[in-house]
Amino acid sequence: MTVSRTLILGGSRGLGKALKALIPDALAVSRTSTESIDLSKETASNSVLTLVSEYEPSRILYVAGGGPHGPYFQKGIKSHKWAYAVNYFTPIQILNDLIEKSYEGEFIYIGSAIAERSTSDKSLSYSASKTAAKSVILSYDSKLLKTKVFSPAYMDTDLLPKGSWPRMECSELVIEPSKVAEVLLNWLNDQNGNNDSRHFDWIDRFDYNLPNHKDL
Ligand SMILES: NC(=O)c1ccc[n+]([C@@H]2O[C@H](COP(=O)([O-])OP(=O)(O)OC[C@H]3O[C@@H](n4cnc5c(N)ncnc54)[C@H](OP(=O)(O)O)[C@@H]3O)[C@@H](O)[C@H]2O)c1
Repeated sequence: MTVSRTLILGGSRGLGKALKALIPDALAVSRTSTESIDLSKETASNSVLTLVSEYEPSRILYVAGGGPHGPYFQKGIKSHKWAYAVNYFTPIQILNDLIEKSYEGEFIYIGSAIAERSTSDKSLSYSASKTAAKSVILSYDSKLLKTKVFSPAYMDTDLLPKGSWPRMECSELVIEPSKVAEVLLNWLNDQNGNNDSRHFDWIDRFDYNLPNHKDL
């Protein structure tokens, strides 16, 4: 791995697209990208590992994520399974496979500072899978694999529903994905020892005034 290369898993829209704009030679993967992988499928990790051996990225950004929003039992089990697959099972499987292959690069998972604090019963599968992935990923021995978690707050992307309260009532809390991408890359590339923490939590780092009465 002599050349610095980035693989973006989930790079066609939202934060992934903003990252790709800042790293034009990165390889972006999604269901709709030219390099197409559906990260909700059980075979996704095999496809990603094949790509890793061909492309030899020094940095892998796992950006894809999502899940159903609304009363839990009104949402089909299929949508909850999808959330667990994309947010948890696929990235964890990829990590295990990378360790087996003695991958020497970095693996960065995009968490969610909101999901990690969520008390809402309307996003249970999303919050549980994001939070579990964060804990497991940060528990890896960094001698085995260099893992980090970057957890943004609300972003102005397709993932945040049109009528959601942050958009309607606190639009200053909804950050442009281009800004988030810039902060993420600065954090990763910081050579001055300010990035020794393996977890970046947007709400803790910035003056982000999240109303505590809100259903997150
Ligand atoms: N938006 C927020 O307010 C917010 C807040 C905190 C954390 N986050 C986290 O930030 C990350 C990026 O979110 P975003 O807001 O940028 O989301 P987004 O706008 O919905 O974009 C998601 C990206 O992931 C890809 N993707 C989704 N499902 C996929 C699948 N099954 N297989 C392959 N690619 C898939 C999408 O591409 P295709 O549809 O082309 O496949 C797209 O490029 C997520 O992990 C999310 O949990 C978001």
